[in-house]
Amino acid sequence: MLTLPPLALYIHIPWCVRKCPYCDFNSHTSPSALPQREYVAALLADLEQDLPRVWGRTVTSVFFGGGTPSLFSADSIAAILDGCAARLSFRPGLEVTLETNPGTVEHDRFEAYRRAGVNRISFGIQSFDNGCLQRLGRIHDSAQAETAVKLAQDAGIDNINLDLMYALPQQTQAMALHDLDRAFALQPAHVSHYQLTLEPNTVFAAKPPKGIPEDDDAWDMQEACQAALAAHGYAQYEVSAYARDGRQCAHNVNYWRYGDYLGIGAGAHGKLTQPADDGILRRWKIKHPAAYLAAGASDARIGGDEWIAAAARPFDYMLNALRLNAGFALGEFEQRTGLPRAALSPRLDDCIAKGWLERDGERIVPTELGRRFLNDVMSVFLD
Ligand SMILES: C[S@@+](CC[C@H](N)C(=O)[O-])C[C@H]1O[C@@H](n2cnc3c(N)ncnc32)[C@H](O)[C@@H]1O
Ligand code: SF4
Repeated sequence: MLTLPPLALYIHIPWCVRKCPYCDFNSHTSPSALPQREYVAALLADLEQDLPRVWGRTVTSVFFGGGTPSLFSADSIAAILDGCAARLSFRPGLEVTLETNPGTVEHDRFEAYRRAGVNRISFGIQSFDNGCLQRLGRIHDSAQAETAVKLAQDAGIDNINLDLMYALPQQTQAMALHDLDRAFALQPAHVSHYQLTLEPNTVFAAKPPKGIPEDDDAWDMQEACQAALAAHGYAQYEVSAYARDGRQCAHNVNYWRYGDYLGIGAGAHGKLTQPADDGILRRWKIKHPAAYLAAGASDARIGGDEWIAAAARPFDYMLNALRLNAGFALGEFEQRTGLPRAALSPRLDDCIAKGWLERDGERIVPTELGRRFLNDVMSVFLD
């Protein structure tokens, strides 16, 4: 039987000062005057169309992602949060994250974001090495990054994530470790540590930069960085996520546990369990900001709806749940997919026999070997 999981809210802001050459997110170079007021109205009209799918449910986290949400003023962020809170029930004290490019913030901004209801800031730092930042086409340097983080802390925001990337062009292991030392000095609650990937349809994919570390070197770099993070109190809990005690990102953990989420904004994706239809609905919004804005109150901004077939759910679930070091509970698999645990066998037994997964009572946990070959493990569950 499908049971309703927690519900998160994702809000996409699709503009950046400049498009980074490695990035395949739905982000577009910002016009000189951002249509903030129009976009706030479009987001709320978008939300109203989704409301019948989530009647009576409580939102447990909010995440402003991008693009660069910090291009929006605190007044616009407040108008979005107030508009959403007037239409949905927000759990008191819920986590509200805002992604921030360190090149886009000035004094006083964080204080105003905090007053608007933001209580977690995620900074796109990428590296503290100015050469690396330049090769990545970033608009900020390391001094700006450090200043931005301190401004947020001075404004009373203590729940801070730093995004770093590794295996960068011309980066050695010592340089990656040095980036972490600079991050530790700022005492963030959370570090996201991503291996640079060459995504299709990006400038880097068309013309890869020189000096990207080989796979084995990137793996060694990841292991050395993981050890340094652990030694500084940041425990790995997901492929790319490390946190101090109790500081895991509630919003992202909800995705990985196959929770539900509403996605509003250009190109945003949602996943909504519908027990009355005995189904799980994926819904996405059209990607281009101009078309999204032009949709007015019509349903033209809905890019598509898709029901996840029962046969596709084991893989869909594993794609998320196996990213977590703690794995998942078989009972939760049953509640969130609506399938009996038998739907996983004999594939689960094969993975256990290969030493990729292990069973700990009710939990299925990826082993160290399984984590190294995670894509292979996940693909076992492809229908
Ligand atoms: C939406 S961005 C964060 C906020 C803001 N847009 C910024 O870049 O400063 C999300 C994060 O994904 C990571 N990322 C983006 N493209 C990536 C790629 N090709 N490989 C690895 N990590 C990537 C970066 O660390 C980036 O900070
Ligand atoms: S600033 Fe962030 S979202 Fe924008 S292009 Fe760069 S990595 Fe992508």
